[in-house]
Amino acid sequence: MSSASAPAKLILCGEHAVVYGRPAIAAPLSDVRAYARVKPGQAGSGLRFIAPDLGENWSAAEQPAHPLSELARAALARLGVEDADLTITLRSDIPIASGMGSGAAIGTALVRALAAHVGLALPPAEVAALVYASERRFHGTPSGIDNTVVAYEQAIWFERREPAPLIEPLTIGAPLTLLVGDSGVRSATRLPVGAVRERWQADPRRYEALFDQVGELVVRARAALASGDIRLLGTLLDANQALLEQIGVSSPELERLVAAARAAGALGAKLSGAGWGGVMLALVTPETRDSVAEALRAAGATRVLGV
Ligand code: MEV
Repeated sequence: MSSASAPAKLILCGEHAVVYGRPAIAAPLSDVRAYARVKPGQAGSGLRFIAPDLGENWSAAEQPAHPLSELARAALARLGVEDADLTITLRSDIPIASGMGSGAAIGTALVRALAAHVGLALPPAEVAALVYASERRFHGTPSGIDNTVVAYEQAIWFERREPAPLIEPLTIGAPLTLLVGDSGVRSATRLPVGAVRERWQADPRRYEALFDQVGELVVRARAALASGDIRLLGTLLDANQALLEQIGVSSPELERLVAAARAAGALGAKLSGAGWGGVMLALVTPETRDSVAEALRAAGATRVLGV
């Protein structure tokens, strides 16, 4: 039997604009993970998936077009395996449709577990490419940042480019204390991503200008991270939230949490991920951490994670 896991992710800044070629910064949330376990199945059973958290149990023969059936087949082909009888159990601590990259983490854990099963270690770039191909097929126009940060499992600077993205490890000059507040509202990534695309198509000049402003603040956030200027970083996160509101991907629930975090002393706060629901993040200090966490809970956060 082989098993593997992959972390959740957090986009620090630059979501949505990253789909349009601007840079973004993301980090793994290593304590919150998805898990895959692979063991030999009965002869002739093919690939069988058991996903207790999703309440799903299917075989690749019955559901060949299931995203995870396709991803497993693609990974096995890459690993040089034609036919295999395997039982694959998938489990995840990452809430679905929460902006924390649950799909990318489940896909990455699956690919890693299959590679471990055949005794090969795939480099992160290959794992990321397999998961990206799957996300592209099923989620429209992903930038690739989710599968990349999850597969590399380190804080990254990311730019969508052809033929390959620019991925750089980030230098962080001072320890960051972040809180993640879950609005409790579930929103599939492709919905706000699709809505932004429609708005961009209807008014490219306005949206390109908004994406440029996001890109500029991400450049400044990188410098603030490198120099350890967390106050400046906080103001940049606030500015990013204002732009995400203009882009139209915020929500009343997220804004309530953002406002509560700021009022309780956070240096900056914004939604994280695709928006319309899911999580927000607050940049705090060790001194304000508990009071901001308390304020987030009081404002309706269904879960607060410390990073
Ligand atoms: C989702 O985690 C981040 C978005 O920018 C979409 C993407 O980059 O694919 C909203």
